[in-house]
Amino acid sequence: MAHTSSSIHPRWVRAWHWLNALAIGVMVTSGWKIFNASPLFAWYFPPEITLGGWLGGALQWHFAAMWLLVVNLLVYLGFSIITGRLRHTLITGLLRNLVSDVRAFLRGQLSHANPLQYNAIQKLAYLGVLGLIALVILSGLVLWKSVQFGLLRDLLGGYETARWIHFGAMSGIVLFVVIHLAMVALVPRTLLAMLGLEHTGEQ
Ligand code: HEM
Repeated sequence: MAHTSSSIHPRWVRAWHWLNALAIGVMVTSGWKIFNASPLFAWYFPPEITLGGWLGGALQWHFAAMWLLVVNLLVYLGFSIITGRLRHTLITGLLRNLVSDVRAFLRGQLSHANPLQYNAIQKLAYLGVLGLIALVILSGLVLWKSVQFGLLRDLLGGYETARWIHFGAMSGIVLFVVIHLAMVALVPRTLLAMLGLEHTGEQ
């Protein structure tokens, strides 16, 4: 029998993941610059961590990366559903293992060292951030063209509410990324898998 070994994550998942990280990075930092032009709060984001130079420039970055984010998400969801990966990797076992995995987490014994098999909390976090990305896109459409997306605007509770939803979803995504990066730093092996540098060794 021929010996083959396959990548832990399929090529399209890795391509999606890094394009998504790029799009999120541009969207968030240019979004902070746009926020500074009309802040929801009494504070603003330090200009050093924002992208675009000025409001007009930030809007250009935001609209450019928006297409990458949307098309990339649709491609990922399409492939994930058609290949069964969404169910297999992120859904199956989620509810069954949730209680025991939360217990293990509280005892400090939860492992996330197996890139082939996510634990229930990882599954929940990944599904959650995908949901937040969808929400940030939908609320963003309302802020972009509120007249054309009038039905969506009404469903989201109006323009002002959509603005808060957009900000809240962004905050959730940023929180995810901070925890996500901390977990990757704790288990660097998972990074090799997402870079395609580690293989299953299955025959
Ligand atoms: C430079 C920043 C990032 C690094 C280094 C990174 C790293 C990784 C790694 C190593 C994995 C595999 C997890 C594992 O096997 O335990 C992963 C999966 C994942 N990451 Fe990231 N990530 C980054 C940014 C992001 C961003 C910005 C998002 C979304 C907001 C994101 C969403 C996800 C999701 C949803 C998965 C699961 C994908 C799947 O298996 O279908 N990541 N990431």
